[in-house]
Amino acid sequence: MHESAMVSSAQRPTRDERELALREAGYNIFGLSASDVYVDLLTDSGTGTMSTDQWAALVGGDESYAGSDSFESLEAAVEEVLGLPHVIPAHQGRGAEHLLYGSIVEDGDVVISNTHFDTTRAHVVEAGGEPVDCPVAGAWETDSGGAFDGNLDIEAARTEAQAVGAERVPALIVTVTNNSGAGQPVSVKNVRRARKLADEIDARLVLDACRFAENAWFVNRREDEFADASVIDIVREQLSYADAVIVSGKKDGLVNMGGFLGLADHEQKLFAELKERAILYEGFYTYGGMAGRDMAAMAVGLREAVDPAYLEARIGQVQELADRLAEAGVPVYQPTGGHAVYVDAGQALPHIPDKQFPGQALVCEAYLEGAVRAVELGSFAFPGTDRPELVRLAVPRRRYHREHVDHVAETFGAVLEQSEALSGYEVTGEPERPELRHFTASLAPVE
Ligand code: F0G
Repeated sequence: MHESAMVSSAQRPTRDERELALREAGYNIFGLSASDVYVDLLTDSGTGTMSTDQWAALVGGDESYAGSDSFESLEAAVEEVLGLPHVIPAHQGRGAEHLLYGSIVEDGDVVISNTHFDTTRAHVVEAGGEPVDCPVAGAWETDSGGAFDGNLDIEAARTEAQAVGAERVPALIVTVTNNSGAGQPVSVKNVRRARKLADEIDARLVLDACRFAENAWFVNRREDEFADASVIDIVREQLSYADAVIVSGKKDGLVNMGGFLGLADHEQKLFAELKERAILYEGFYTYGGMAGRDMAAMAVGLREAVDPAYLEARIGQVQELADRLAEAGVPVYQPTGGHAVYVDAGQALPHIPDKQFPGQALVCEAYLEGAVRAVELGSFAFPGTDRPELVRLAVPRRRYHREHVDHVAETFGAVLEQSEALSGYEVTGEPERPELRHFTASLAPVE
């Protein structure tokens, strides 16, 4: 699918170096130096490889303060690929979240989502709202086998809205694909039903569409109505039901930094308000914290992301990783999501109680064993929720090769062979905001 146009070398630190690095990082893999990591599956966000066409566009970037050519190319790409007429760039997805949720969420509001991503949850809380998750039944079962386990449970959302009072619900947020819900896709039919519910309760429908192209690929494969539709037509159809759309360009924008907010045509008033907030918090509303050159590269990336051959290779690689892990005896969430493989650490390490973070034990051991970096998304990252003890192996776009996939599967296989010897972890220091604790908390192995 791709040839390499630029390479970088990677070294694997020795076992002693890895032990020291992990201890110094307070057993929190966010604290590791990337140079101490051999295969980095911490995130698929901003870690992919740009194409030569993107680099060419980058060199031609226009750095004018207002109305640059590069902004206009981005605007044209967003209109063409996502069908959104109004665009405000932001320095990344959470910048766009700050603009939007800071404007539409007020003290005492309740925001309902299929599952809030951690920065989304934090922004809703920051704006005075209460985030409520309504994933569909089966979303947390690692073997439910559902085609669209990322869907919003419409009936549960309706019941929640009625219970708290519809006037307190300013927005429904549907995240496609559902990153915090094992990266599972959301059907177009589900978004249509979410639109109807939003109209019923007079709320906005926001789509968090960081992974809009990967989601459309699943819709093409799994939703009969779209079996013959092109990826781009599916993206446009799915997003056409939203009032506002948040995109982190670091995912399906295929860039290392950037994002934007897109609005439907009828949201003129909100658009004017958000432009002002952009000036206050991000930068002038035609660059929003992005260099012109980065907007130019993202305009190209958005079009590359909907190329079916690219998506086939991309999602195929994630599935290959899941298959190899399963062959090595690692319990993985099935079916696999678009950007990551989720491992069920509770099942892999049943002797470690949830309160001692089996996911973190698995993450730390995978680093010690093979210098592979993954991330815990269980009781450590989401304290107080009853979700399974998942570990996410997020695959950067267009970066790694089959040898990397083999190395990761072998590493996790080796960890599981000596799983009974692994112990749990306890938190020894944590920040103020519980929604963000996994980024900076320090831990220690339980004796
Ligand atoms: N929404 C979703 C669904 C995301 O996955 C992310 C980022 C954001 C919003 C925020 O975007 O990072 O550009 O500010 N997810 C990354 C991850 C960080 O690792 O899943 P951002």
